[in-house]
Amino acid sequence: MTTLVLGGTGKTGRRVANRLTVLDHPWRIGSRSARPSFDWTDRSTWAPALDGVDSVYVTYYPDLAFPGALEDIDAFTSLAVAGGVTRLVLLSGRGEPMAEAAERVVQSSGADWTIVRCSWFMQNFSEGYLLDPVLEGVIALPIADVPEPFVDVDDIADVVVAALTQKGHGGKLYELTGPRLLTFADVAAELSKATGRDIVYVPVTAEEFAAGAREQGVPENEIEGLNGLFAEVLDGRNAHLADGVHQALGRPARDFTDYATANKATWTVR
Ligand SMILES: NC(=O)c1ccc[n+]([C@@H]2O[C@H](COP(=O)([O-])OP(=O)(O)OC[C@H]3O[C@@H](n4cnc5c(N)ncnc54)[C@H](OP(=O)(O)O)[C@@H]3O)[C@@H](O)[C@H]2O)c1
Repeated sequence: MTTLVLGGTGKTGRRVANRLTVLDHPWRIGSRSARPSFDWTDRSTWAPALDGVDSVYVTYYPDLAFPGALEDIDAFTSLAVAGGVTRLVLLSGRGEPMAEAAERVVQSSGADWTIVRCSWFMQNFSEGYLLDPVLEGVIALPIADVPEPFVDVDDIADVVVAALTQKGHGGKLYELTGPRLLTFADVAAELSKATGRDIVYVPVTAEEFAAGAREQGVPENEIEGLNGLFAEVLDGRNAHLADGVHQALGRPARDFTDYATANKATWTVR
């Protein structure tokens, strides 16, 4: 039997698949570019991706807080459990009421469940939409001076793989953060130190952020969703640490300085 890794070409999914390979644990990627293809926006693709699968790492795209996500998670988990899936591991977002609603759907699905509820990923600055701003030396976001405990996605992948392959993680909700609170100005300082370049953080209005994203071709619904998300989860509600990495793995979470040092080549100006 196989594990379906939804978003298996993305930041956490790719790492989960790599770890499962090392463990010789069969897996299949669920994403639009995979074969069979899996698309959240085309429910006819779900059953073929679930064929022969007994566990699923569920990552949603673009975000569990976006309209339609809850209905998709509900329909997908029902289909999965009806088809014989017995273990679900959900990637969730911290401080998001809509993500918590999706967690409850998974918790009541009838499958053995683990929730991995995460703070902002460190890798947003090296593999996500903040890579280009870092390369340009200016991170401009509509976020005030609120600290966030950024988490390393390698820690997330370690927890997810433990939940998928080991006993003792069923029925657990792990809240994953890094070991330190950092403002976006602190992040810019960390990245400057690691790279030897001048990288600054500039707070902008939601309108200014939308205009910049529009120029880069980000779809309108994603811009709206991102602005909503920034305002909602970066209002101070998540400005505290959690110990999910230690609870799940018995070791501390990786610090931002280690992440920045290890990835400094990524931010070499092209
Ligand atoms: N980024 C953060 O800081 C953060 C923090 C907490 C929680 N999260 C959660 O993490 C999840 C993933 O976010 P991410 O930004 O890090 O993305 P990501 O996992 O790095 O990349 C997106 C993945 O989803 C796939 N995908 C894109 N559109 C899809 C579609 N319509 N149907 C099926 N698969 C699709 C992509 O592959 P293809 O292109 O091949 O389809 C890719 O594998 C989101 O639910 C988000 O809420 C993120």
